[in-house]
Amino acid sequence: MTLILGLESSCDETAAAVVKDGTEVLSNVVSSQITQHAPFGGVVPELAAREHLKAIQPVTDAALEEAGCKISGIDAIAVTQGPGLMPALLVGLNFAKGLAAGHNLPLIGINHFTAHIYGAFFEIGASELSNPERYPILALVVSGGHTALVLIGKDKQVRVAGTTIDDAAGEALDKAAKLLNLGYPGGPVIEKAAKSGNPKAFNFPRGLTGGGGKPLAPEHRFNFSFSGVKTAMLYHCRNAGGAENLDEQTLYDSVASYQEAVIDVLVKKTVAAAKHFGAATVIMAGGVACNSLLRERLTEKLPKNRNLVISPKKYCTDNAAMVAGLAYHHFQEKDFSGIDIDAYPRLPELTNVPF
Ligand code: KG4
Ligand code: ZN
Repeated sequence: MTLILGLESSCDETAAAVVKDGTEVLSNVVSSQITQHAPFGGVVPELAAREHLKAIQPVTDAALEEAGCKISGIDAIAVTQGPGLMPALLVGLNFAKGLAAGHNLPLIGINHFTAHIYGAFFEIGASELSNPERYPILALVVSGGHTALVLIGKDKQVRVAGTTIDDAAGEALDKAAKLLNLGYPGGPVIEKAAKSGNPKAFNFPRGLTGGGGKPLAPEHRFNFSFSGVKTAMLYHCRNAGGAENLDEQTLYDSVASYQEAVIDVLVKKTVAAAKHFGAATVIMAGGVACNSLLRERLTEKLPKNRNLVISPKKYCTDNAAMVAGLAYHHFQEKDFSGIDIDAYPRLPELTNVPF
């Protein structure tokens, strides 16, 4: 039996979890900083770091207690190394280094992006990972920091099929919510407000889909762009003389139409990529994957001969269970990190997965 303590501090959630053998989540504690960042309409990196500093020890203690174990029973410390906000990442990483050194435990630095993909596997069970019929796997990772389609082969090799050339989908939702004075984070508030609106009321642009009279360049077939839809919302508000001038129903219609545009692109590109690459399994993970309409739409549009695995909501948004779970596969290979590892803000080139 292998027990791994995972730590996550890449953005605005301080999280710790204990996972047994890469699959059994014994505890999954998340402390959110939403209320601290809300007045600013987005995450303030400095503030995030200070909040992580306050929360990391209590969150770790709670995760160990909930799992019914002590640090002496832990086999390794896993921590998000990147990508993410540097000041935030450094808190978790240095805390993890201290724990590992102090208790003479191996340290495992984890790629947050790959961890999001792994989070979806808590639903289907680890045995499915070794089932060759599940491959190739197409993963849509859609969060505040990322929007990408990656292909994972039976040989664990990874190929990035498409990625955003500007903003992530979550960022587009967060920015629109800020423009409309709806609060932070944008995804959940937009989802709620959109329920009262007509998604066909306004036609927001669908980036890189070959619309608007411009043919789509082949290299952008599976890439995403959300800066256009964001700018369109800015002009939509300006044309009304400011967001505050939109009457209640127009506001709901605007939000519903905007959400529709974002979801439409995500679903169409994912379905097209699944067909093009002959994916046996399609996974959706990351914070935006919490969106109920997106979950429904992908389920409806993806041909039934593909296995669809949508990450359980609690593993969509940032958490440490996905970090500890993924780390188990590094642990088995004795792929440990040195105490001198650095955090990294950007996604490095992804070539393979450890599971
Ligand atoms: O994965 P995550 O917690 O952090 C990153 O790695 O970025 O994703 C956060 C993003 C935010 O942009 C947030 O607005 C979005 O996920 N989000 C949602 C929903 N819940 C969170 N977007 C759409 N619908 C939701 N229900
Ligand atoms: Zn994330």
